[in-house]
Amino acid sequence: MVIDMVDGPSLATDLNCTHSIITRALDVAIEHCNKSLNSGELEESTKKGFIDYVQCFHTVITTHHHLETQMVFPYFKDKISELPVDKLNLEHGKIGKFLFEIDNVIIPDLKSAMLNKSSLKQLYKSLIGLDEIWHPHIKLEEKYFTIEKMDNSIDKDEMINLIEIYRKFSMEHNTPDYLVIPFQFYNLPPSKREIWAQELPDIINQKFIQIEWKNKWLPMVNFFYPDVNNEI
Ligand SMILES: [Fe+2]
Ligand SMILES: [Fe+2]
Repeated sequence: MVIDMVDGPSLATDLNCTHSIITRALDVAIEHCNKSLNSGELEESTKKGFIDYVQCFHTVITTHHHLETQMVFPYFKDKISELPVDKLNLEHGKIGKFLFEIDNVIIPDLKSAMLNKSSLKQLYKSLIGLDEIWHPHIKLEEKYFTIEKMDNSIDKDEMINLIEIYRKFSMEHNTPDYLVIPFQFYNLPPSKREIWAQELPDIINQKFIQIEWKNKWLPMVNFFYPDVNNEI
């Protein structure tokens, strides 16, 4: 996916970055599930990190869908011509069923089971089901939520105002911050982390994440972009 780069704040860039984070995490989780199924179960050394990673994935995609359904779609419904809100919301509902399974059944099973092969199989099935809807879904959103269409539909002050409202909503729902924020950062390639940093409160910059929260996110490091592991 190509992310358009612009100077200054851009809602379309923020949405696209979130899509990149979720898409990468989905790929990584599917690949790890597949590998673990071949070897029989989740490796003990990376089990906690993987469960944290899947939980962060669940939180980020859930928050993103709530933000779109409750705020972004209603706001832009009449501003972007032919925005297919009903179809997009329907797809959120379908993805939501897989997310419910992952959060309520599979993760608790994986955490407790000594032999976790059947939970792992279930997780793999849910992730594959979700993946099939996810790709056409974001393709459709990105067709309508382009920088050009969003910029043309509102003025700059309103854009800044909306970005702030959406940022607050996301920060409130993306918890715990010491896991979810590093998860977002390190599922973006290094070149995009600076753009993402603009979304965060001043205190939470890359140095802060690397130092203050390191022990919290470290179990997930094998699932992040490889440069993160090379630098610690
Ligand atoms: Fe969506
Ligand atoms: Fe989206």
